[in-house]
Amino acid sequence: MTTPRYYVTTPIYYVNAQPHIGHAYTTLACDMLARFKRLDGFDVKFLTGTDEHGQKVATSARAAGIDPQRFTDRVSRNFRDLAEFMACSNDDFIRTTEARHKTSVQALWARLVDAGDIYLGAYAGWYATRDEAFYTESELEKRPDGTYVAKASGAEVEWVEEPSYFFRLSAWQDRLLAFYEANPDFILPKTRRNEVVSFVQGGLQDLSVSRTALDWGISVPGDDAHVVYVWLDALTNYITAVGFPDTDGDYARYWPADVHMVGKDILRFHAVYWPAFLMAAGLRPPRRVFAHGWWTNESQKISKSLGNTIDPIKLIETYGLDQVRYFLLREVPFGNDGDFSHAAMVHRINGDLANDFGNLAQRVLSMIHKNCDKMVPSPGAMTEDDRALLDAAAGAKARMGAAIDVQAFHEALEHLWNVVRAANAYVDRQAPWALRKTDPDRMRTVLYVLAETLRHLAILAQPVMPDSAGRMLDLLAVAEDSRDFACLDAGHALCAGLPLPKPEGVFPRYVDPEAEDA
Ligand code: MSP
Repeated sequence: MTTPRYYVTTPIYYVNAQPHIGHAYTTLACDMLARFKRLDGFDVKFLTGTDEHGQKVATSARAAGIDPQRFTDRVSRNFRDLAEFMACSNDDFIRTTEARHKTSVQALWARLVDAGDIYLGAYAGWYATRDEAFYTESELEKRPDGTYVAKASGAEVEWVEEPSYFFRLSAWQDRLLAFYEANPDFILPKTRRNEVVSFVQGGLQDLSVSRTALDWGISVPGDDAHVVYVWLDALTNYITAVGFPDTDGDYARYWPADVHMVGKDILRFHAVYWPAFLMAAGLRPPRRVFAHGWWTNESQKISKSLGNTIDPIKLIETYGLDQVRYFLLREVPFGNDGDFSHAAMVHRINGDLANDFGNLAQRVLSMIHKNCDKMVPSPGAMTEDDRALLDAAAGAKARMGAAIDVQAFHEALEHLWNVVRAANAYVDRQAPWALRKTDPDRMRTVLYVLAETLRHLAILAQPVMPDSAGRMLDLLAVAEDSRDFACLDAGHALCAGLPLPKPEGVFPRYVDPEAEDA
């Protein structure tokens, strides 16, 4: 049997600014997905990286007073460090200034030219550097001072007139619509899919795919006066990283990608332009583009000018890495917008993590430590209540997997917490502390059922909270090589008599520093 493969990507981030919560969010969501699939036996490729060409980056480099290459080297490093700091399990980190990428973009360009989908013309229209996007008049709104901004993003636009190569996007309308029709889950969530379909139904204009006004980019093959439009350059990263233009090797192994994870603001580039470029080049489009929502900060739109950006490193230093990972993926249905607030974060940390999951583990493990000779107890005959809890634990992986496959991460965590809650209710019902005197055999069975349930919970919690779940598995003496999902079967159940280390808390409560001082 061949190992199933899974290829997941984050957007590549512009190196014009410091990493913020938006970057951390997408990367963490992909990391959770990649870890889940690896534990589930998939051969996973998880890609992230930086988008280093284009006007926006060139302008930031100029403002910083250094040449663009040195500037991008410096800022790209911050993104790589952040991925490491967040314990991301990415298999590759791509930079669009790398030689492998230049080769790939120029090869894709050549294919588009050969297909007759690129022609030379002249562009006269609006351009927003912030979005690196061209806009039509109808997509703009006039501000009181007479300048125009893009309705969708609020980005300022400027009038541009220059020679330009165009991609015949207009010729792809019907084929794109047929593609969406044949692949109903290509764009998720559904509401986003509907928006894209109506946009394409509204008609497509040919797309300007080169710029002459700047030189910070990849030259158009055979015409040095032009650099490739930064979005065509950037999107190509997803195939560069699997070895394109070589279409054997990793390309054959991983392409088409299973999911491109993106924010809702960059969906159109991924769901309209990208599949059109690929199909025109005779390559397969990705299997899915998932658009997630945006975070606000204490109900306010996050913006540099408001000074309320959230630094992911500070966030993690304040609340803990696994806590932040859990919060971001649990707090809002993935795909919706969400509001970050200190109160909501503390509520999740102290409620879901410390009280529900942490206390469960702590109670069970300390009772075992005190009353079962510090060993996994030996179970007797099982009751219906015991079996119900074990069955709920055993069924969680399939339920989580189904949610993960449609990127419903919040739902996957809800399935996990249903088992946590069921286990807590079971402890209260069975009251093992009372059984200690009245029926010690029964107490051992109850504690065994709980320990085995904890083993399932900890294995399944690894994708979202790798460190805490790993520590819980240490406390259950589960060997490093027995922690993947294949070990969720009865054959790997905890063995009676297995010595357990001294229990310690895995999910600390968050206490406000002021409250502590008081
Ligand atoms: N370079 C392009 C992507 C090219 S992919 C081929 C780009 N870069 S970016 O640095 O601007 O990426 C930002 C990512 O962060 C986008 O997916 C965007 O949706 C996301 N977010 C930016 N602000 C955000 C929030 N406040 N909340 C959540 N995500 C947000 O676009």
